Amino acid sequence: MASMAAADAILRLTEAFKKDANPEKINLGVGVYQDADGKTPILKCVREAQQRLLTAESTKSYLPIPGTPEYGKLARELMFGADHEILASNRAVTVQAPGGTGALRVACDFVKQHYPNSRVWMSKPTWANHPQIIAAAGLDSDAYPYFDAANNALAFDAMIQGLGEIPTGDVVLLHACCHNPSGIDPSPEQWAQIADVVAERKLLPLLDFAYQGFGDGLREDPQGVLAMCRPGAEALICSSFSKNFGLYRERVGALTVVAASDEVAQKALSQVKRCVRTNYSNPPAHGGQIVATVLADADLRALWLDELAEMRGRIRQMRQMLVDTLKAKGVTRDFSFITRQRGMFSFSGLTPEQVDRLREEYSIYIVRSGRINVAGITPANCDRLCDAIAAVL
Ligand code: LMR
Repeated sequence: MASMAAADAILRLTEAFKKDANPEKINLGVGVYQDADGKTPILKCVREAQQRLLTAESTKSYLPIPGTPEYGKLARELMFGADHEILASNRAVTVQAPGGTGALRVACDFVKQHYPNSRVWMSKPTWANHPQIIAAAGLDSDAYPYFDAANNALAFDAMIQGLGEIPTGDVVLLHACCHNPSGIDPSPEQWAQIADVVAERKLLPLLDFAYQGFGDGLREDPQGVLAMCRPGAEALICSSFSKNFGLYRERVGALTVVAASDEVAQKALSQVKRCVRTNYSNPPAHGGQIVATVLADADLRALWLDELAEMRGRIRQMRQMLVDTLKAKGVTRDFSFITRQRGMFSFSGLTPEQVDRLREEYSIYIVRSGRINVAGITPANCDRLCDAIAAVL
């Protein structure tokens, strides 16, 4: 008889939050966007696309193993920009995947089959599910330095040195933007240097790109992806539409394989298709059709860009409000780093004990690492949150 497995560090918080009867409870755990009313809305562009699909849909037969070619093309154009060399040379191929997590698992299975002795190097810290996915695919993992806790900044020199010591042929897992959990990203100049080391050491970059549009903007956020995909370079990119389309439960993402040439890309696709077939056979259609409908229609796309900008803007405002309110409450610790972080998350510096007190005494739910989902802060709950943080500090 199997023993009970440990509950997932992030998702168990959602369960505990749901059970909490306190009407003033605050959920800053799982990375899900909430609006100023504390709701996770269905985007207007998504609602409209769904209506159109309901009318137009004529079958529920299987999709092809990689999903539709249109979906793959739209996903690539979104990452690289429509006129990038990678698109013209056909050296990138895409499979639709069930969320960014599904894409990561397929990518790791692909690595295991073709580079069975490669180790996957993760940033320290990283998303708690990364080591689990890598291990589930039968790969070993290790870590390179990333976070400078003393300055709440990127430990760039240590990172470059650490990357420079990774054995040739290994895989380096990079957060393309909005690093989870720290909220700290390399600058464009730093990305160029990271790409130099990756190229010199002949490492295979595996990019987790779950937050395009949540950082500085839709076209600004792929800087890391573009830096890694120099002419002739190879990369695996796992993208997600959970956050930027608010399609969390529809499980919609993509794995894009960038190869040195068109011919190699087609060979890689044939192998990735085998990995998909043994995992989930072929992708679920609904979420992917919504994304493709929005991206291919000028009006819906414009609406999406507005809605995305609104989400990004609200998170930025909440970063500032959090820092200002803590200061106004007399908290002397400098939290200004929160406004320099990007995306949904902030590594707050709260200790596990402080996080426990916030949950037990104030019904405020935060991952024990101190990671805060800034998108869970609202003008209505910020005051109470800051009072509670001030009390436990
Ligand atoms: C998170 O880190 O909270 C999100 O990526 C959601 C998840 O599945 O963990």
